[in-house]
Amino acid sequence: MGHGIAQVSASAGYQVVVRDISQEFLDKGLEAIKSSLGRFVKRERLSQSQADEILGRIRFTTSLDEAVSNANLVIEAVPEIMDLKRRVWAEVDELAPRDAILATNTSSLSITEMARHVSHPERFLGMHFFNPPVLMKLVEVNQGEQTSPEVVNTVMEIARRMRKTPVWVRKDSPGFIVNRVLITYLNEAAKLLDQYSVRQIDAAMQHRAGMPLGPFMLCDLIGLDIVVNILRTFESKWGEYYTPESRLLELVKSGKLGRKTGEGFYKYDVRPSVNEKEGEGFDVQLLLKPFVAEAEKLLEEGVASKEDIETAVKLGCNLAWGPFEIKEKGFNLGEDVIAEKQKGVLWITLNRPSKLNSLTLDMLDQISTLLAKAEKDSEVKVIAFKGAGDRAFCAGADVSQFPSLTKSGAQKLSEKGQNVFKQIITCSKPTIAVIHGYCLGGGNELAMACDYRLASEAASFGQPEITLGLIPGWGGTYLLPKLIGPARALELISTGRRISAKEAEKIGLVTKVFEASEFNEKVEEFISNIARGPPLALKSVKQLLKGKELEEAFKMETEEFSKLFETEDTKEGLKAFNERRKPAFKGL
Ligand code: COA
Repeated sequence: MGHGIAQVSASAGYQVVVRDISQEFLDKGLEAIKSSLGRFVKRERLSQSQADEILGRIRFTTSLDEAVSNANLVIEAVPEIMDLKRRVWAEVDELAPRDAILATNTSSLSITEMARHVSHPERFLGMHFFNPPVLMKLVEVNQGEQTSPEVVNTVMEIARRMRKTPVWVRKDSPGFIVNRVLITYLNEAAKLLDQYSVRQIDAAMQHRAGMPLGPFMLCDLIGLDIVVNILRTFESKWGEYYTPESRLLELVKSGKLGRKTGEGFYKYDVRPSVNEKEGEGFDVQLLLKPFVAEAEKLLEEGVASKEDIETAVKLGCNLAWGPFEIKEKGFNLGEDVIAEKQKGVLWITLNRPSKLNSLTLDMLDQISTLLAKAEKDSEVKVIAFKGAGDRAFCAGADVSQFPSLTKSGAQKLSEKGQNVFKQIITCSKPTIAVIHGYCLGGGNELAMACDYRLASEAASFGQPEITLGLIPGWGGTYLLPKLIGPARALELISTGRRISAKEAEKIGLVTKVFEASEFNEKVEEFISNIARGPPLALKSVKQLLKGKELEEAFKMETEEFSKLFETEDTKEGLKAFNERRKPAFKGL
């Protein structure tokens, strides 16, 4: 993980020295950083000159002395072997400045024990990054028994500057937060294998409990030997509830350690996948309950605050909901559209965070049904849409099905989206899109179909269809010019350019932008204000402002959108998206 941590640190503006034991390892690290920065440049998240500057801030050396003698912060990321870590820290302690902060990147070893080998244990702590550090937002800041509060605060601040979300682990407890909850849950899943199959449990947890991967695929990814080792640490501290299950032990004994050995619970000659149907008959609560129970134990033991446990598990496991939220929701998760009524507001959450909440046809159907019900429900005063997870409101239509679409299939897809969005436009109740993160393509069309768009300052907007050789097909060619004028709409649609929330507000695409820190509060205030308004007058004003030419404009859009599916350019655009490269359009 060292090269990832180095890249993240240099990206935050710090001067970094990377030290490894051989030139060969250093060269590999350099290559990994170059290729990661290259990917950011390709995806236009960094300019080439920014990437060069970041790389320019990193030096590589095999000399520990050279690396640490002037350091303010030393982050060690050697393999998770206590003896090795101890030896490294004893050496660093000799060479590093007396006032340097010393941080170990460990997911399971005791901070307090390691700190015994340095002369200033009050400046020693854990800084646990998640793999890959450049993408994963979470950092567990782990306090040892002697770590001083100032050092914890400084490191939390440094992690924030690295654009990470740090959580404060106050008690030096095996597995800290994420591994304790996650690895225990994996063992609980294995305990159910005498009643259910591997595929059945994985399919149910992936498709109905919102887990990015089922527990056994995750075991294979982590490595079964690592899972067993961590469970052994838990077992020795807290007893036999944590004893690794026999199926895990058998696989480890036969050398089937998961993806890295080509076989674990699954074989890896092809990438395994499970479909929703295979999960039938398994009640996801059987696993969600122990998952949540472990988080509750952490709270009782004083390992971290409720907020930090919630954040850590959510970000560390890539979940849409933290454990306490899961409990609040009565363990009902996994639907890709979630509806909740709260104080007169029907909240409709797009819940496919791992696919940036991109919209499937099935999700459109669900939204349509919810809108029809809400029309008749006098308790619902306002309908609000939001996206699950912290990255996107919605990144558009789910394009994974696009390559197989014919012209008539594309026509149906366009009409379906338009019909649901028309339902939003003509809905008698006020509709609001609450937007953080990406709001792109069909996501932006959904937002534009709403009466109000409230955005966090970190949101970004665009109609990127052109990059796929396409045009918007869910009303965007009508709704965007209506909001921002035809010249600006033409430019945004023709270039696929992404704009910031501030720019979106300036040109009239967004109703209001709020600072991220006060977003939820301001949104609530705005919505409750609208909800108090007179329903009949609100309905009238909506109808008058809707525009008469909508039907005709939507029809023309479907025509043009579906025609493009017969072109080589659109096929090339979709292929390039899947292959993560720039398309080469030929006008054919
Ligand atoms: N349809 C289907 N899947 C989508 C998607 C979409 N519209 N947008 C994102 N995803 C998926 C990605 O394929 C990826 O899945 P994977 O992890 O299984 O590979 C996941 O969501 C995360 O997206 P990724 O592209 O890895 O994130 P990023 O930060 O590199 O880029 C975007 C974010 C939004 C710029 C990029 O995902 C994108 O361009 N999406 C398509 C937007 C679009 O063209 N929308 C209009 C469709 S008509």
